[in-house]
Amino acid sequence: MWQSGHLGRWACSDRLSWINKVCAMKIVAIISQKGGAGKTTLAVHLATAAAAAKHSAAVIDLDPQGTATSWGDRRRADAPEVVSGQAVRLPALIKAASQNGADFLMLDTAPNADQTASLACRAADVVLIPCRPSTFDLEAIETTLLLAKAASKPAYVVLNAVPSRSFIGKEASDGLTARGALVAPHQLTHRAAFTHGVIDGRTAQEFEPTGKAADEIITLYKWLCGIVGMPTRGQPRRAA
Ligand SMILES: Nc1ncnc2c1ncn2[C@@H]1O[C@H](COP(=O)(O)OP(=O)(O)OP(=O)(O)O)[C@@H](O)[C@H]1O
Ligand SMILES: [Mg+2]
Repeated sequence: MWQSGHLGRWACSDRLSWINKVCAMKIVAIISQKGGAGKTTLAVHLATAAAAAKHSAAVIDLDPQGTATSWGDRRRADAPEVVSGQAVRLPALIKAASQNGADFLMLDTAPNADQTASLACRAADVVLIPCRPSTFDLEAIETTLLLAKAASKPAYVVLNAVPSRSFIGKEASDGLTARGALVAPHQLTHRAAFTHGVIDGRTAQEFEPTGKAADEIITLYKWLCGIVGMPTRGQPRRAA
């Protein structure tokens, strides 16, 4: 478990402004006020993809439901590290992650647009907004886009659980783009592998390494690396 060092007396928001300036570590905030959009699914799958590519990856679970933390507890592999925390401790947790050598950090958040979501936006290099391609979900992303805008952070909608063999994903993507939103060029299809693997602390790419879900995550992960300016492969970790 990470140790959080002394952080001085800065206010939480001051420390978050400082983080982006001095940390080489890349921070991805995954935010959507809509429950069940796929925040935790994205956080654990992307962090595991980063860990598999030899990055030191971690998830900070800022959701009191603790879904990512429970996933981490069920998991047999060491990586990625999953740490549960409250928003007020976010600067300390990020600093501890950096000091412990993390280079990729996923912030999993609760389904609302509260102070936690706002702080996560401020800490992030990029905000991902998972969204199911139904009209209701599409309406719900507006608030998250505004939060990211207020924090001056780039935000991308990631269409998730898109029905296979349908035009719904393309229609949703076109509709969002027409409304001025940035949409990730890669979508996640509705696939059982995204759910089944997670039940015992794995991910789709571990549950079914050569499956289509694994392919989709790796493609999304590589795109994300390009967005944050991170090499797709990290350095192998040295033995202690
Ligand atoms: N692409 C997908 N295909 C199939 N099932 C999915 C997909 N994405 C997410 N799910 C399932 O949908 C449910 C909700 O996903 P998840 O927990 O990631 O959403 P969330 O946004 O984190 O929810 P909450 O707002 O409650 O934290 C889970 O059972 C998950 O396994
Ligand atoms: Mg969740």
